Amino acid sequence: MSATPPGPHGDPVFGNGRRYASDPFSFMRACADSYGDVVRFDLGPRETYLLTNPADIERVLVADAERYRKPQFGDDAMDRLLGNGLLMSEGETWQRQRKLANPSFHNQRIGALAGTMVDHTESQLADWDDGEVVDIQLEVARLTVKIIVSAMFGADITDEEVRTVQEKLEPLGARFEPDPRRFLIPDWAPTRENREFAAAVDTLESVIDGIVERRQGTQRDPSVDPAGPEGVSVRGPAGDGQGGDGSDDLPMDLLSVLLRARDRGEQTDENLRDELVTMLLAGHDTTALALTYTFYLLSNHPEARERVASEAIEATSGGPPTATDAREMRYTERVLNESMRLYPPVYTLFREPKLDVKLGGYRIPEGSALMCSQWVVHRSPRWYDDPDAFDPGRWKPERRSQRPRFAYFPFGGGPRHCIGKSFSLLEAKLILAKVCSQYDLEYEGPDLSLRGSLTMHPDHPVPMRIHER
Ligand code: HEM
Repeated sequence: MSATPPGPHGDPVFGNGRRYASDPFSFMRACADSYGDVVRFDLGPRETYLLTNPADIERVLVADAERYRKPQFGDDAMDRLLGNGLLMSEGETWQRQRKLANPSFHNQRIGALAGTMVDHTESQLADWDDGEVVDIQLEVARLTVKIIVSAMFGADITDEEVRTVQEKLEPLGARFEPDPRRFLIPDWAPTRENREFAAAVDTLESVIDGIVERRQGTQRDPSVDPAGPEGVSVRGPAGDGQGGDGSDDLPMDLLSVLLRARDRGEQTDENLRDELVTMLLAGHDTTALALTYTFYLLSNHPEARERVASEAIEATSGGPPTATDAREMRYTERVLNESMRLYPPVYTLFREPKLDVKLGGYRIPEGSALMCSQWVVHRSPRWYDDPDAFDPGRWKPERRSQRPRFAYFPFGGGPRHCIGKSFSLLEAKLILAKVCSQYDLEYEGPDLSLRGSLTMHPDHPVPMRIHER
């Protein structure tokens, strides 16, 4: 067995960086098709390996997770944006932060947030008119920002602040698009891109600071938690440092929990801000993308749209849909699964081995960059017949059970799996229930083209005409 995995030749300066940057999606699929389960390529100063065998991915994310960390790309931008928030932190800091955040994501609390999710959806839909065209990506992102701020920060966000967040996502996203020249240009260089990025981070932090300011002094007031008494009761045993600090009925929204941890001296203002920026971004953009792609697919598949609509009508027939109604939306869940298979909002996970490791029979050196790509695995003909076709029937239990566990991993896996998975699935189903019970959305844009950044975005607006049912 060869010691070095095969891979495409690159040019002397940029390696394979230019091809990757021009279309990461085709490039990664072509690499997997031509070279197999482990592909080596050159995206800059460090060796990069693409893993596309679910068994190898499972080892990296789950079985041998302690041998890997999130890579440091020598990229100050990620650090400047997310700092030591839950997505990027490591070791004891990560363990402490995850333990602190877990009760806010407890299933019982998430279920109790259904009312808040539905209320925000209803007030947004009140602005929709029959026959008008909306950019559905902006619409759902506006909604998911409002929901995450209410549900996890126990606060409201003004329309002006939502607009600011949406405007700043563009320069933030641009900074993380693949660009082969980036490693030649330091982050402090006063390029237009670097300046716009720095200004966007400052603005985002000032929105977060405004929310924290409004919440000062209310971290023990149970009425701020939109999950109400049901959510409150999920707190850990008294004195466990998870917010269960002695008295009953403490609000368990994440911001209250973090503010109390700060009062106990377990959290600095900087930690708090990193965590909130992380949650604001990770907690709204991904779900908004999953919904955008779902509406797009439903528009192109009227028979699936009708089945989702009939579940939605059923779910909303007895009043505002609840978490129990959402559990009954089984076909809708298959549609969501299929949508995140074809268009995984997080299209690649990165890891770095802390020591030399062996994967797929090859030695992978410490410090290299590993890419576990949902985009490639989810569209592999090895696991999916006719892999580019939309077929919610793939998610029937008998078909699903024939595939390896990591043939599908939109939420990652192992200890670093997405903390917001149940939250986002409930939110997506409730939004679909409200929208699809009342409207058909008809896509009026160009053929979908995609752009890779931290997440996978449509490369253009996503106009949808609204038809009242
Ligand atoms: C469709 C929606 C979502 C998708 C596809 C998604 C995907 C992911 C993935 C793939 C990871 C693993 C990253 C890695 O291993 O490197 C992750 C982690 C994470 N997600 Fe999500 N996510 C979604 C929704 C959410 C929501 C709603 C929240 C917050 C409310 C959230 C917060 C986080 C956080 C904080 C982490 C880091 C967890 C840790 O390392 O302990 N995500 N997400």
